[in-house]
Amino acid sequence: MTMTAAENDMFTRVGPGTPAGEMLRRYWHPIGFTKELKDRPVRKRLLGEDLVLFQDELGRLGLLGLRCPHRGTSLELGYLEDGGLRCCYHGWLFDVTGACLEQPCEPPEHNFKDKVRHLAYEVEELAGVIFAYMGPRPAPLLPRYDILVREDGIRSAWGRLMSANYFQMVENTVDQHHFRWLHRKPSSALWRNIDLESHVTDFGIRDHYSREIDGVKCTTTSYFIMPTMNKTGYHVDHDHPGSIVASHVGYEALRWRVPADDTHTIHVTVLFAPYVDGKAAELRPDGQDKGIVESPYGVYSWDESTNHLGRNDQDRAAQESQGEICDRTIEHLGFSDEGVILLRKIYREAMEDVRRGRDPRGVVRDPEQNEMIEITPSEEVTRVD
Ligand code: FES
Ligand SMILES: [Fe+2]
Repeated sequence: MTMTAAENDMFTRVGPGTPAGEMLRRYWHPIGFTKELKDRPVRKRLLGEDLVLFQDELGRLGLLGLRCPHRGTSLELGYLEDGGLRCCYHGWLFDVTGACLEQPCEPPEHNFKDKVRHLAYEVEELAGVIFAYMGPRPAPLLPRYDILVREDGIRSAWGRLMSANYFQMVENTVDQHHFRWLHRKPSSALWRNIDLESHVTDFGIRDHYSREIDGVKCTTTSYFIMPTMNKTGYHVDHDHPGSIVASHVGYEALRWRVPADDTHTIHVTVLFAPYVDGKAAELRPDGQDKGIVESPYGVYSWDESTNHLGRNDQDRAAQESQGEICDRTIEHLGFSDEGVILLRKIYREAMEDVRRGRDPRGVVRDPEQNEMIEITPSEEVTRVD
């Protein structure tokens, strides 16, 4: 059934008070890296709100409203000193909780500082990634996904800002048919899909995908995790799903698509390669110190050898070309869109849960469950003679 414009808004608008915005505010979201802070406050935009991220002299992380509540100057220009972030304009000083510690130009007997409280959100760091929670208190636990916690391997992470609504990027994670077309190489033979199945789990969707080419079968299991993350495993060498070579070392990836606002999305990737016989797979170089790097709209890498989009920009190009906010009133979903249909179903349920005052799917509050959350994607290659 075709979506109405109002329904499309319901999935895609992320500001305070919107159904998706309220639902997304029940989860932790990655917004940057400790390595990018470098003793300076950094401007951030998350769920349509302008914020400033910083680490005070005591190492505490803070996320405050960008504009000083005195007269609106950007706290990105402020000084990190005296136990907080001091506005550059008239010196008001705020700590990580949003308390106003000093107002140097005000008569102390007025106690005006005690009447001012600035917008402050909770932030926590895990594996060098900084996560923010912007919903009602008490905050749920920051999920300790295995590859953020494991110590038996190497990690690499980076972040990009893209010019498209987050939801069309989230839909990509459960859209298994796109592999065969978007990521093909003109020189590669197309493979035969054997089965593609999507099932709802406690935390999201499990995707199972098996394909066959030249007598070799490759079976992939990956996971979508509410509300914007997926976990995939790479245990087979292939720069294209039709060229399959078994590999003895592998790695796993967590990827988030966090709405900066309605038309921009922060894409964060964390890779983890475990040591196998003292060796780990080679990972893409770490880019945490660069922060969230803007990928200019419409500028994509090009692979001369294939005369097609470069592999790293294929998904972004397809998603940005759907429009800033994909118009779902014109779409025609078919049988092969099973994953997208399931995703929308669990998003509707999550928005309804929040409307009724319940935690949506995948929110973690049990410390025992959160020691380490293991979600294991797989890739297997077998001969099918
Ligand atoms: S505007 Fe920030 S202290 Fe005046
Ligand atoms: Fe893709």
